[in-house]
Amino acid sequence: MEWILKAEGLTKGFTLHTQGVVEIPVLQRLELTVCPGESIALVGPSGAGKSTLLRLLYGNYVCGQGRILVRHRDQIVDMARATPHEIIDIRRWTMGYVSQFLRIIPRVSAIDVVAEPLRDRGAAMEDARRVAEEMLACLNIPRRLWGLSPTTFSGGEQQRINMARGFVAPYPIMVLDEPTASLDDVNKAVVRAMINAARSRGTAVISIFHDEADRRQVATRTIALRPMTRNDDPDGSHFSHAV
Ligand SMILES: Nc1ncnc2c1ncn2[C@@H]1O[C@H](COP(=O)(O)OP(=O)(O)OP(=O)(O)O)[C@@H](O)[C@H]1O
Ligand SMILES: [Mg+2]
Repeated sequence: MEWILKAEGLTKGFTLHTQGVVEIPVLQRLELTVCPGESIALVGPSGAGKSTLLRLLYGNYVCGQGRILVRHRDQIVDMARATPHEIIDIRRWTMGYVSQFLRIIPRVSAIDVVAEPLRDRGAAMEDARRVAEEMLACLNIPRRLWGLSPTTFSGGEQQRINMARGFVAPYPIMVLDEPTASLDDVNKAVVRAMINAARSRGTAVISIFHDEADRRQVATRTIALRPMTRNDDPDGSHFSHAV
């Protein structure tokens, strides 16, 4: 099958200027190819670069070297070189992202936070809110919270608002950074079912799961990252193996 996302030679490090200049290499020449309907779980110890990789794929970080090719509207776009306008269009129609924490917008109600991606696609307010309500109900958010700003919501409630927002519109590619980390077992199961339903409709999923049981139930393939060490061959590959 034809890939939908392909990373080639992805290299990323951070330069810190706090105590002198410190270079932190994180990813080196990483290769990743993802096809529609695949669900890839990234594994590796804390600090291995899992979240960094997802942020690179979503265009939140600029990569040092390499390409991130995405099929978008019958074209192939390199996220590493895309214009801000192209990135906005890709995020609206092609690639969704659920981070571990909700970005809170004060005074915007939970229902409108969830409805926003549909509004951005041109849906009428009434239609977008109706779908948002279905998502909130599906994720067991009590009805009394729907009209309130998520500012005061619990960690797990905020995470479910984030999931509802991420899945309210269909995307060919979904990027998920620990979407179940603060959830109870019932809601973890709801989230796993949402991810698997999207995948069975052909969405390509790239995710990080803290919980191995969750990972086993959603992943079709696992990719292991390991933290880079001082002894790493600068020409070696950070990408260790695909299980
Ligand atoms: N914006 C940043 N500036 C500087 N260093 C960063 C930045 N983001 C990540 N790093 C560093 O890059 C490395 C990888 O971080 P990353 O968050 O990708 O790890 P992770 O595999 O997601 O870990 P965890 O399982 O703890 O979430 C860490 O050493 C981290 O300190
Ligand atoms: Mg992380």
